[in-house]
Amino acid sequence: MCGIVGYLGYRDAYPVLTDGLKQLEYRGYDSAGVALSDDRGNLRVYKEKGKVADLENYAADKDKSGHLGIAHTRWATHGEPCARNAHPHVSASGRFAIVHNGIIENYPVLRTNLEAKGYVFQSSTDTEALVQLIDYIAAQTASDTVSVLQTALKMVVGAYAVALIDRNSPDRLYAARKSSPLAVGIGESEFFIASDMNPISCYTDKVVYLEDGEIAEMSCAGGLRIVNLDNAECSHEIHKVPKNLGMVQKGGFEHFMLKEIFEQPDCIRDCMRGRVNPGDKTVTLSSVREFRDRLLSAGRFIIVACGTSWHAGLIGKQLLESLCRIPAEVVYASEFRYSNPVIHDTDVVVAISQSGETADTLAAIELAKQKGAFIYGICNAVGSSIPRITDAGSYIHAGPEIGVASTKAFTGQVAVLVMLALDLAREKGTIDDICYARTVEALDSIPDKMKSVLKENGRIASLAKIFTYARNFIYLGRGYSYPVALEGALKLKEISYIHAEGYPAAEMKHGPIALIDDEMPVVIIAAGNALYDKILNNVQEIKARKGRVIAIVTEGDDVISKIADTVIEIPQTEECLTPLLSVIPLQMLAYHIAVCKGKDVDRPRNLAKSVTVE
Ligand code: F6R
Repeated sequence: MCGIVGYLGYRDAYPVLTDGLKQLEYRGYDSAGVALSDDRGNLRVYKEKGKVADLENYAADKDKSGHLGIAHTRWATHGEPCARNAHPHVSASGRFAIVHNGIIENYPVLRTNLEAKGYVFQSSTDTEALVQLIDYIAAQTASDTVSVLQTALKMVVGAYAVALIDRNSPDRLYAARKSSPLAVGIGESEFFIASDMNPISCYTDKVVYLEDGEIAEMSCAGGLRIVNLDNAECSHEIHKVPKNLGMVQKGGFEHFMLKEIFEQPDCIRDCMRGRVNPGDKTVTLSSVREFRDRLLSAGRFIIVACGTSWHAGLIGKQLLESLCRIPAEVVYASEFRYSNPVIHDTDVVVAISQSGETADTLAAIELAKQKGAFIYGICNAVGSSIPRITDAGSYIHAGPEIGVASTKAFTGQVAVLVMLALDLAREKGTIDDICYARTVEALDSIPDKMKSVLKENGRIASLAKIFTYARNFIYLGRGYSYPVALEGALKLKEISYIHAEGYPAAEMKHGPIALIDDEMPVVIIAAGNALYDKILNNVQEIKARKGRVIAIVTEGDDVISKIADTVIEIPQTEECLTPLLSVIPLQMLAYHIAVCKGKDVDRPRNLAKSVTVE
């Protein structure tokens, strides 16, 4: 949430900053701004409501010179999205400009105290309280900028990643972090800062990740210095990252979301590479090899995640319980962290996250760590915060996911969970050889089967036109298909703004059936389900009440396909792998309905890709 970019060096800062912001727009896109400094410290600040392109239009005819600058793309927390609340915020004296990601939780107290001292606030944001506090401390103490920042940040309660420029030090760029990500890129006589390494990787492969409570001071003459809030020097490891990570294009697709839906066969292949061996029909995760005893001796698995990743977690629970016979729970990370959970040091906590930066998931991990649990991460974003604090884990290798609605990350997460469960089950001896080999073989054929599901795209696009009228949708599934029903409903709400709910199919009779009438579309996932006959009954019940059934069935189904209004076929596979196929038509249906309704599919209203605040 909110993207930060900063630059100091020999290049013109403005294009570096705006190009960087475009790569961070997945983090927020309700307003954007930039502050540029010339060599004498004269500040120019441009801000605009809307996307980075709106900022560029606004600044088109303005002076954009300067080799030092900071920039921000915002996801509003405090104060409506508008130019006044957009970052950078400039202190009352005009000396400091700041951009911030996170929440200053004690800003009301800070603001009241500063107003009592005569400060007049220009915005409704929590961030402005911080820059005015910095201004006030600087005026009172006449200390150097780093000392001023240390004093100010010690007074702050909350989460922050900040970038700061000081009119009195036009040769320096400052940054600090606590609980919100920030990376520093080191080039030849130049520095970059950004919320993730994508904007940095266009210019340098050397990155330092700031840790909580650290302040970075960068100058072309003096290099990079990192200290903590007590002014102790902090050693920092320089990581090497691949170049040009962020240059992701739509590759001929109308939207990133559609491109990412179509990338799924390749992503799953990449995810399985070196792990699934189709020759001898085995699955080997290096993390399971390395931490075999700890994982096998686990008394319980607790999966923590949010949103789509939580849906993948629900599938993971079923896999771990049915294949490995290990008790497993799935908890929303936001609930887990405040529920005083019972955690034993024999527990394994599995944290699932596409971004690796979700604030609630990070907090859940910290809590579980304090209680001695072993933490296993399943993440997509390489080098993000979660993989850096977990004991072990597996990347899903899906590549950057730009569309705000998660698609390929979900199937990647499920694929990793399948491999984890299969590998553990084999080690534990809870799966027989035939079932193991059959499931590995079926997993290996999933990418090809995904390709055949993707061929339904044109038909689903036509189908979508029929349903743009709908104000509500119901999604039903059982067993492994229940989380898919939840995921299908979430996709539809996120990007089309149609209200949709997912239920276990058998729960329909306990209430939701009251909603069924001839206008209610019901998506029912019947494919590959051991309880097919019971799902068939549900379809009959819906049709008896004139509901409009869209059924996801296995190829060759000739029972439900005769009763449902529309059927979408998917290839046959093992039941536990069905979600990898059945979710794809639901992603496409949500996508096409949203397109038909003229919605901004990749950047839906009110959402951000990376939820780095609570
Ligand atoms: C839905 C979606 C969100 C995320 C959730 C967790 O399409 O993208 O529900 O799944 O915010 O994010 P990560 O996986 O980055 O922790």
